[in-house]
Amino acid sequence: MDVARIGVVGLGAMGSGIAQVAIEAGFDVVGREVTAQLGDAAAGRVAHFLTRKVEKGQRTQDERDGAVARLRTTTDLDDLADCDLVIEAIVEELGAKRELFGRLEEICRPDAVLATNTSALSVTEIAAATSSPERIVGLHFFNPAPLMPLVEVVRAELSSDEAVATALAVVERLGKVAVPCHDTPGFVVNRILIPLLNDCVRVLDEARVTPEALDAAMTNGAGWPMGPCRLVDLVGVDVHVHASEALYEKLREPRMAPPPRLVAMRNAGLHGRKSGRGFYTYERG
Ligand code: CAA
Repeated sequence: MDVARIGVVGLGAMGSGIAQVAIEAGFDVVGREVTAQLGDAAAGRVAHFLTRKVEKGQRTQDERDGAVARLRTTTDLDDLADCDLVIEAIVEELGAKRELFGRLEEICRPDAVLATNTSALSVTEIAAATSSPERIVGLHFFNPAPLMPLVEVVRAELSSDEAVATALAVVERLGKVAVPCHDTPGFVVNRILIPLLNDCVRVLDEARVTPEALDAAMTNGAGWPMGPCRLVDLVGVDVHVHASEALYEKLREPRMAPPPRLVAMRNAGLHGRKSGRGFYTYERG
């Protein structure tokens, strides 16, 4: 199917990043948030990053203005009725996602493809909440979505060839690198990265090093673009703990389980960059 209009549900860090990538590639985007303030804030973030591209000579003012005009935000899910593809990027809770896909199935055209950006939940279990699981796939972007080239295109048990082909064609038009894979816990990258980051956090205590020292070790000794503590802060301590729990529940490997230190941080609201404090302290806004 030829996709012209994309719906994005949830305009947090991931959803607004996905919306940005889509409008830059020429798609019309309808972004849905629960309040108008959250929608406006997300549109403001997107406009800010596109303005920075103009300032740095990476885009013309006309390209920036055209892209910004292609993003419309709404609080009404019914406004996604005309979308050819909807990408869900809401909270990582299976129940909430299943309920949302049930509603999207009623609202969207029968030929529209419905995708989830879940990090570690089962796409098949989300699709099973609908009566049209064949049109449901995973489209897993990486944080920050405008900067990270990869998108995992996840085929669930009942995804149709057409839905997967549509998703792959969209990823290509977005200028991203698609890696098609099957619906297994953590897919490709998180299956490897999440236990690795958990190991890194355990090493903090075992080797008695600071987050700064661990990050310096991994950037200078292993060539990582950013250290593991800064990366967990970027991903979000809450998101990382949740993904760890989801993987541990499915695979039962001890390394998948979130280290107690991260669980304590999550419980204390130290969620990383977005909350202003995690392993490091950040300026808000
Ligand atoms: N959205 C949009 N644009 C952004 C942005 C964002 N969130 N963050 C930064 N930018 C833009 C800014 O305009 C910035 O330029 P200015 O500062 O001049 O305004 C520009 O991008 C470049 O930003 P940086 O200087 O910070 O870029 P960098 O060269 O230092 O690279 C990085 C940053 C790409 C994040 C790099 O450090 C990196 O690759 N880190 C590893 C990230 C990673 O591993 N991500 C995957 C996490 S796992 C995951 O996401 C899976 C999951 O399911 C949890």
